Amino acid sequence: MKHILLIIGGGIAAYKSLEIARQLKKKGYDIIPVMTASAEAFVTKLSVEALCGNEVHSELFAPGQESKINHIALARMADAILVCPATANLLARMAHGLADDLATTILLAAKAPIFVAPAMNVRMWEHPATQANIALLKQRDVHFIGPAEGEMACGDYGLGRLSPIEDIICVLEGHLKLPAPLLNKHFLVTAGPTCEPIDPVRYISNHSSGLQGYAIAEALAKLGAKVTLVSGPVSLATPLHVDRVNVVTAREMLDQCLKALPADGMVAVAAVSDWRAEQEHSEKLKKGHQDLTKLKLVENPDILATICRHQKRPALVVGFAAETENVLDYAREKRERKGCDWLIANDVKAGVFGSDRNQVSILDGHAIETWPMQTKKEIAARLAQKISAYFSQL
Ligand code: C5P
Repeated sequence: MKHILLIIGGGIAAYKSLEIARQLKKKGYDIIPVMTASAEAFVTKLSVEALCGNEVHSELFAPGQESKINHIALARMADAILVCPATANLLARMAHGLADDLATTILLAAKAPIFVAPAMNVRMWEHPATQANIALLKQRDVHFIGPAEGEMACGDYGLGRLSPIEDIICVLEGHLKLPAPLLNKHFLVTAGPTCEPIDPVRYISNHSSGLQGYAIAEALAKLGAKVTLVSGPVSLATPLHVDRVNVVTAREMLDQCLKALPADGMVAVAAVSDWRAEQEHSEKLKKGHQDLTKLKLVENPDILATICRHQKRPALVVGFAAETENVLDYAREKRERKGCDWLIANDVKAGVFGSDRNQVSILDGHAIETWPMQTKKEIAARLAQKISAYFSQL
C-alpha cells in the first residue's frame, strides 16, 4: 500500500482537501494527515481523521507522541507528500527552509517527492515574493499542480484557485503508478507560431495552433521529465507539470531557449516565422501613404540550427519540417542543414494546422519511420516513448 502524507494548509480551499483524501482513500492509498495550526481554523481534526481513517498530526513537540511516531518517521514513511492547499505563507516557509511547525519540519526532512496545490488570492499569487518562492521551489523539484484560473472566494478573478480535485489526484496517481523513465531529464520544447510586428496593429505570423508542441511537452512531462515549453502566442492551457515561457517574436524565442539550456533534449515544434520586418514602425502605417514594396523583410535567426551548434547542445535534438511538397526530400536536406538528430516531417497540405490529427515520418539519418495518421496526442505519446527508449540506451 502506498502512503500519501497530506499536509493541509490554512486556506479557504482546505475543505477540498477532505474530498481529495476521501477519494484517494477509496482508491486504496493510506492517507496520513498533517494539519498546520491555521488549517484548524477552516476544517476540524475530527472531519479530517474520519475521512482519512488515520490520526491527524499537528504538533511538532507532542508529549507522549514522540516515541510513537515523530516527524522524521512521518517524513520517511511517505511515498509522496501532497501540500493542499498550499498557502502563500506555507510556500514561503518551504522556500526558505523554515521548520517552525510539524508540516514544514516534515517537508524539510522528506525524501519523497513533494506536490503542492496552491490556492490563494490572485494578488498574493502574482506578488514577486510568492513568484520568487515558487521559482526556488521549482528549482528544488517541488511539483506544482496549478493553481487554476477563475473566481475566488473573495470575489476577485484570476490565477490562484485550487486546481480541480481530479487534476490533483491524476497527477499524484500518475506519479505513484507510472514508471518515470525521463525523471531528472530536462527537455526544451518550442511550440506555436511567432508573431513579428510590422507596426502596432499588424504582424507577420502563421497558422500554427501549438497543439502538437503542447501535446509533446505534456507527453514528456508524463514520463517524468522536467519540461520547459517556450511558446509563441496560442490559446492553449499549460499542460500539468510543464514550465511555460511565453514569447512573441523569433528573437525572444531564441533568447528564452538559450536561457533554458542546459537541457538533455530539445524538440523544436514551433512554426517560427522565417522573416520579420526590418523596421518595426512605431505608428500605424497609413493606407496610400506608403509604398508597400518598401516593406523590407529580414531573416530571423534559426533557433533549431543555433541550438544544434551551441556548446551546450542537448544530447538529442528533434526538429520538425512542415512541407507542402516533396516532403521527405526536403526533410532529409533540412536534417543535415540544421544539424538535428531526428527530423519529423509532416505534410501540412492535409489540413494539419489547427486539426487535432497529424501524419508524420521520422528521419534519423539511417532510416525513415512512417507513422499512420493519428491524433497529435497519440503522436506525442509515441514520440515521448521513442525519446525515452533513446535515453535508456545511452
Ligand atoms: O526551416 P523550417 O522552418 O522549415 O524548419 C523547421 C524546423 O526548424 C522546426 O523544427 C522549427 O521549429 C525550426 N525552426 C527554428 N527557427 C527558425 C525556423 C525554424 O527553430 N527560425
